[in-house]
Order: sequence, then structure tokens, then C-alpha cells
Amino acid sequence: MPKKIKRRTFLKRTFGTFLTVLGLGSGGYFYANRIEPSLLEIKRIEIKHSLIPPSFNGTTIVQFSDTHLGFHYNINQFKKLVEKINQLEPDLIFFTGDLLDEPNKFDEINKVAPILKQLNATIGKYCIYGNHDHGGYGSEIYRNLMEFSSFTVLLNESLLIKQKDGTSISLLGIDDRMLGRPNLETAMKQVPKDSFKLLLSHAPDVADEALNYGVHWQLSGHSHGGQVKIPFVGALVIPPYAQNYPEGLYTIGQDNPLSLYVNRGIGTTRLPFRFLAKPELTVFTLSSGTN
Ligand SMILES: [Fe+2]
Repeated sequence: MPKKIKRRTFLKRTFGTFLTVLGLGSGGYFYANRIEPSLLEIKRIEIKHSLIPPSFNGTTIVQFSDTHLGFHYNINQFKKLVEKINQLEPDLIFFTGDLLDEPNKFDEINKVAPILKQLNATIGKYCIYGNHDHGGYGSEIYRNLMEFSSFTVLLNESLLIKQKDGTSISLLGIDDRMLGRPNLETAMKQVPKDSFKLLLSHAPDVADEALNYGVHWQLSGHSHGGQVKIPFVGALVIPPYAQNYPEGLYTIGQDNPLSLYVNRGIGTTRLPFRFLAKPELTVFTLSSGTN
């Protein structure tokens, strides 16, 4: 009971602040509830590094994140998203966590894997756990859905992504920082020292630790870019472990820096609104050369 009151009060206050600050009334509600959540932005970013073999030049990755199916994001929207990703003709697809908002409560769960399975990538599809994938007894549900859909789940492990000529880059994935058991040391065990290292971590703030392991690039989600941002004030809510790096591209460290990209995700959680934080797909292109 106290928890319910607390949550309701929190939502009321948060949304109240949102409308009061904007002074938009019903127009603002409609925009943030219906319009902005459907405005998909496709961002293009180059991943350039001297350790990327030339055979990877032009290789494309599509990252999508935080769909939160079941909470104001339905199967039809999900279907359209999959079509959109396929139109981008990616070589690699990375999903960086939070597939279902509450894995054990989604009544159309049997429709999820057949849709996800339709995603096409010439090299492969990889994913990691987000906090919502563990919540609601979701750990097994999520793994089964992703593996059925031909995704490889990276749980504190790594693999080599190889080209036909035998050259490769290392892909690492760690467990969620909030509700899982992330272990970078375990994830690093099989990684060749001189390879280009790309890490998938739902929580962006893991980058501060990943820097010490020689990770070159990290792709994250989790923050939803703040989800609702007040002009001149900033995000209403930024979750734990996204406080240092809530959105976009960062360079961390100096001698052997780590580049971090934080995707804003697709769906919403807690509040069915997005404002100044449009849903996003990110298309990365790999390039060998001086970074
Ligand atoms: Fe999320």
C-alpha cells in the first residue's frame, strides 16, 4: 500500500511538474504521449579505430534498445520497427536490453520472437540483458525469446567477429549493472590483447570501469535520453548507472580513450511520455584508420 501511494504521488508530481513548466496543458499531453514517442530518429555515427582491420571498412551495425514492449508500446509498433531496421540492411544488429517492460505480464508474448526472428543481418545478431529483462522473473523468458530469434546473448562473455580473410574484432557483452551480475574480468578472459574491443552494456556508467580494461568502444541504452526533458532544466528522471553519461557520444580517458555511445531507446517506462528525447535507432559504420 505505501509503495502504491508513493509511486502514484511520484508520477503525479513528475507529470505535474512537466506540464506546469511547459504550460502546455492538453496540447503538451497529446504531443508527449502520442506524437514524440513515434518520431523515430536515425542517427549515423562512424566507429573509426586503428585496430579495426581494413576488411571491416563499411561494415554497418544497427543498435536498438529499450523497446519496453507492453508499456505503451505494442506488437504492431514493434513489427514496424523490425521492418525499419531491415530496410537499413545492417551487417550486424545489436540489442542493448529492456525488451519487455514486465516480462511475465505481457499477454502477447508469443508474438514477440516470430517478429524478432525476421530481423536480418549479414554477419549476426547479438544482445545483452537490461534491468527489465531480469525483472518480473524475466531472465529465462528473455534468453529464450532472444535465442529463438537467432540472437546470441552475451552474458559476461566475448566472441570474435570474423571476416572471410580471417581478420577479426572482439565483441563483449556484460550483464546488467542494476539487477544482474556484471563481470568485466570474466568477459575479458578470451579477448585477444591486440584486437579492437567493442563492449555492449545496458548501463552507460559502466564505461568508467570498462576504460580500465582497454575497451575501445561501448554501446549502451538504459537512460531513454532522460525520456522527458524540461527546457533549460534537463531530464526529469535519469536512472541509476546512467547518471554520468545520459545520452549521446562521449570520449572517456586520455591515453587510450574509450568512446561511449548512449542510445535513447525506443519505448517508454514509468511515464508514457517522451519530450525532447525522441526514440532512436543508431547506425554505426566501422572504419579502420587513425582515430
Ligand atoms: Fe529501459
